Amino acid sequence: MSGKRLGILLSGRGSNFQAIADQIAAGRLNATIGVVISNRPDAPGLALARERGLPVVSLPSKAVPREDYDAQLVASLKSSDVDLVCLAGFMRLLTAPFIQAFPQRILNIHPSLLPAFSGLNAQAQALSHGVKITGCTVHFVDEGLDSGPIVGQAAVPVLNDDTAETLSARILVEEHRIYSEAIGRVLGEQWHVQGRRVVFE
Ligand code: GRF
Repeated sequence: MSGKRLGILLSGRGSNFQAIADQIAAGRLNATIGVVISNRPDAPGLALARERGLPVVSLPSKAVPREDYDAQLVASLKSSDVDLVCLAGFMRLLTAPFIQAFPQRILNIHPSLLPAFSGLNAQAQALSHGVKITGCTVHFVDEGLDSGPIVGQAAVPVLNDDTAETLSARILVEEHRIYSEAIGRVLGEQWHVQGRRVVFE
């Protein structure tokens, strides 16, 4: 392992974290996981990170004021010297001081083709809206909900007999592919943000 240092934030299952760790281990993503942090001490993703021997931090968010919590997060990420923060199923909105501590250095993955279906249960939202194509999006994080500049997307067709579960499973395959790809591009290529557009040079 070598390269730039990632800080992974997760709240749950951690399959996107695992996909990133697998790509690094296979030598297909030139990066190091500096720390995996969870706001939920019981998150399965945190246990998986521990099993892999990665540095983990459990930082419970329950009953902690939002600003105080985000200050703790920033301190932890800075002390691990991370270059890029990757939200991987981290179920919290971030405060302005957190965003400003890592300008254009926070990525998120969302299970829809943004700007459609932001927020929770994006796959179920897509099904009930009746779209024929949905997908997933990697984007920079700003102070809004799933609203920052888009780094990469993949389309997934909606099938007649899809349920939220079957659709989510097919989207997840694409999430696992595009997240590492987007991280690799952000770390390894020249780019700038022009308005809302991320332009790779
Ligand atoms: C993924 O669907 C991701 O797009 C969303 O939260 C889910 C996290 O899944 N932000 P996992 O914990 O990475 O398995």
